[in-house]
Amino acid sequence: MILLSIETSCDETAVALVEATGDFPHAKYRVLGNGLLSQIDIHREFGGVFPAVAKREHAKALVPMLEKALREAGMLSEKEISLSEEIEKQLNILLEREPTLAELLIEFFKTHERPAINAIAVTNGPGLAPALWVGVNFARALSAHWNIPVIPVNHMEGHILSSVFEGDHLGTMHFPALALLISGGHTEFVLMRDFADYEKIGSTLDDAVGEAFDKTARMLGLPYPGGPEIARLAAHARAENLPPLLPPLPRPMLHTPDFNVSFSGLKTAVRTRVLDKELTDDEQAVVARDFEDAATEVLIKKATRALAHTNAQTLILGGGVTANTNIRNAFEALVAKEFPDINLHLPDRELSTDNAIMIALSGHARLAEASTNTENLVANGGLSL
Ligand code: KG4
Ligand code: ZN
Repeated sequence: MILLSIETSCDETAVALVEATGDFPHAKYRVLGNGLLSQIDIHREFGGVFPAVAKREHAKALVPMLEKALREAGMLSEKEISLSEEIEKQLNILLEREPTLAELLIEFFKTHERPAINAIAVTNGPGLAPALWVGVNFARALSAHWNIPVIPVNHMEGHILSSVFEGDHLGTMHFPALALLISGGHTEFVLMRDFADYEKIGSTLDDAVGEAFDKTARMLGLPYPGGPEIARLAAHARAENLPPLLPPLPRPMLHTPDFNVSFSGLKTAVRTRVLDKELTDDEQAVVARDFEDAATEVLIKKATRALAHTNAQTLILGGGVTANTNIRNAFEALVAKEFPDINLHLPDRELSTDNAIMIALSGHARLAEASTNTENLVANGGLSL
């Protein structure tokens, strides 16, 4: 079967076509087409993601990304199609709040044949509500015109499955598994007793770890998104072996007997070190490295505690922050040294940040939830696992 998947929860507009052969979780997957457009250059000018801007850009980019994915898959078939007045009216109502998208999509429908896809998977949360709605309404419109069922997907489940994904199949999962989700909006410890069986056992009490990277970068005058910038400076400080800040940056909640973390104290500590100072390049690099070290240590310590407490057999790291080399290395070292029997799953770098392939995987896991009745399908910015 072939899944069309759609992701618009934050600042990437993504559409993918994934073929699944066999049943979840033992299926073989083939990525047939992948359209991904990052809005980062646009958001960089504002220093962060504004929901209204993200929404506008998704509305512009969805049809081109759909075309790109279909073309890559060899499934883009041009043909003049006449739309009934009734369906055109229905599409305009569905896309009432996205007039640009309505125009582009109706034009697309009038010039292209229905592709041979079996289901549409779409992120319906968590994320920025206005951005999510564009993707959800797009999916509903495709479903209405092509008569194809829709599967709502939780973005965080997508991150989990993209970490377990090994190019054409899902890697070994022994339960219970512990998933540590680290992104721009989330820092969560999730206990999985099975696929689709989640219990959140800890989270951040304030900022998400990706947000802390982004804010620290901003304090250092670095562009959005800050994660890669901090990582780049930190690598320089390590290569040059620059001496650390004294006193060292704090490790908030390192020793609390739970699985919660907090990054606002670390952020504040960084602020007091850099406020009103003209830092040299090396001084900036030291702040970046010491921040990265502090954040890494907190995650490692809490993950160690959670692994021991839950007796997890598998550790999954998911979300955009898993692109961070220092964090990846630290987790690989932790597992090798202290939990050699545990399976560690880290996403390929290209799949660590938001994409639609992960949404297709999650859609496949939830095929039973597919429905052509999309009336009650809503975006939910605060959706949890
Ligand atoms: O999962 P994601 O693409 O979007 C959300 O769902 O939030 O994660 C984006 C976050 C941003 O905060 C970004 O700064 C961070 O991931 N990030 C990194 C790195 N690459 C991206 N953080 C640290 N080091 C990186 N190399
Ligand atoms: Zn994400």
